Amino acid sequence: MEIILIVAKAKNNVIGKDNQLIWKLSADLKRFKNLTSGHYILMGRKTYESLGKPLPNRTHLIISRNPNFAAPEGHYVFSSVEDAFIYCNKIGEDKLFVIGGGQLYAETINLCDRLEITEVEASPEGDTFFPEIDPRIWEEKGRENHAADEKNEFPYSFVTYEKARKS
Ligand SMILES: NC(=O)c1ccc[n+]([C@@H]2O[C@H](COP(=O)([O-])OP(=O)(O)OC[C@H]3O[C@@H](n4cnc5c(N)ncnc54)[C@H](OP(=O)(O)O)[C@@H]3O)[C@@H](O)[C@H]2O)c1
Repeated sequence: MEIILIVAKAKNNVIGKDNQLIWKLSADLKRFKNLTSGHYILMGRKTYESLGKPLPNRTHLIISRNPNFAAPEGHYVFSSVEDAFIYCNKIGEDKLFVIGGGQLYAETINLCDRLEITEVEASPEGDTFFPEIDPRIWEEKGRENHAADEKNEFPYSFVTYEKARKS
């Protein structure tokens, strides 16, 4: 199973504030939808709550230490990341997307196979951050730069990282 992390992060690594996203980037939302639709998506309980309700056409796997936290029918709660990975392997999923937030990214980044990063050309204030991408572990494999426009308030780049090969 390929584990893919997907995030939109600012130049200062900010990813959120007050449990919300902090920019209007229609192209990023579209890319997120294209990449994740039809797949299982793994998230922390706070990110799940920030969505309000499950995203269509995706199975939500929510990580929480609260044994009373319940997911809507067709979605699942796990008490650890490992249990969610084991579940996905057992049911034969070929891909799992880690969609945040800050805690989940920090705990899983180096367990992932690929990072799909939207770099946002802004340095907003925030309270949630993406961890550093360690260049000894990750190699940039692709980059697409885009200017701001009426639907995207900042310039942004879609950047793919894969694990660096050890020579
Ligand atoms: N820019 C982006 O691409 C992006 C993407 C996603 C989210 N975000 C932003 O990120 C922020 C939310 O991130 P966050 O760091 O505050 O929270 P989070 O990672 O979404 O969720 C944290 C919660 O997950 C559970 N959890 C985490 N690690 C666990 C573990 N090892 N075992 C069991 N449960 C665990 C705990 O839930 P319990 O407290 O229930 O035990 C914890 O409180 C929001 O602002 C959101 O908008 C941004």
